[in-house]
Amino acid sequence: MENNNNGNLKLAIQKKGRLTEKSLELLKLCGIDIENYSERLVVSSQNFPIDLLFLRDDDIPEYVQDGVADIGIVGENVVREKEAQIEVLEKLGFGKCKIMMAHPQNMPLNDPKDLNHKTIATSYPKILREYLQTNGLNSKIIELSGSVEIAPSLGVADFICDIVSTGNTLMMNKLKKGFAIFESQAVLISAEKTIKDQEKSAIISDLVRRIRSVQSARRSRYLMMNVPKEALPKIMHLLPSLRSPTVVPLADETLVAVHAVIPADYIWSIVDVLKQEGASGILLLPIENMIP
Ligand code: PRP
Ligand code: ZN
Repeated sequence: MENNNNGNLKLAIQKKGRLTEKSLELLKLCGIDIENYSERLVVSSQNFPIDLLFLRDDDIPEYVQDGVADIGIVGENVVREKEAQIEVLEKLGFGKCKIMMAHPQNMPLNDPKDLNHKTIATSYPKILREYLQTNGLNSKIIELSGSVEIAPSLGVADFICDIVSTGNTLMMNKLKKGFAIFESQAVLISAEKTIKDQEKSAIISDLVRRIRSVQSARRSRYLMMNVPKEALPKIMHLLPSLRSPTVVPLADETLVAVHAVIPADYIWSIVDVLKQEGASGILLLPIENMIP
């Protein structure tokens, strides 16, 4: 591979799939520029000591374990299935999905016991086997590496066990959701050996710090509004007291502007009271980064 020993941290992300765009977007929000990544296997950032490796998601845990990549972004579903020797550094809050049992219309699945002595197609044989074992079920597992959803209509399996995100794939294949056996989201992973390397761990710490700032910003909004001066004490009382809100005088001396960082959904629990107290021009802005 090119760029192998330039001292950059090697970050593996999914080459093509559900996590690709969100992974790139996260890096962008972290202020890490990646350009011209189309169709190339390795791409360096221009402003951060990192090389991106575009790989099949299923291979990422093993590549990180073996040190081919230093860190990786991958679903917990793949981490669990591959059982690689890696550490989860951070949950990333995107790529949420479930591994679910699903069934054709004419093959009801109301209870886990309905799986007994039936055939189940899956790309997650380890996770499924574990589930069957803990529930004392005896089913036959058909392992497929892809297109699991067509197995029932081909007569290969009675049920399937696969990732469901939007549910579109199931719907298009006339399958119904049964129940979930595993919940997943994207995580940042590394090998223990990598974290112990001083230079690498310094870059990883910088990256993780940026990721955390993006995540807390995502959960927050910047609230701006004008309020009557006499309502100020009451309104201040409504705002979360983590940081003291900014109060700015206005040309109209009966009013002040109040600016505050609040949890994203908090506004909806106080908006009626704010209005009653005479707040006007209420604006809620997204925040890109929040640095503690
Ligand atoms: C999963 C799964 C389905 C699809 C479900 O594939 O195999 O094909 O996503 O998503 P939906 O409910 O939104 O339709 P995944 O992204 O894990 O990629 P891979 O199996 O090709 O690695
Ligand atoms: Zn995959």
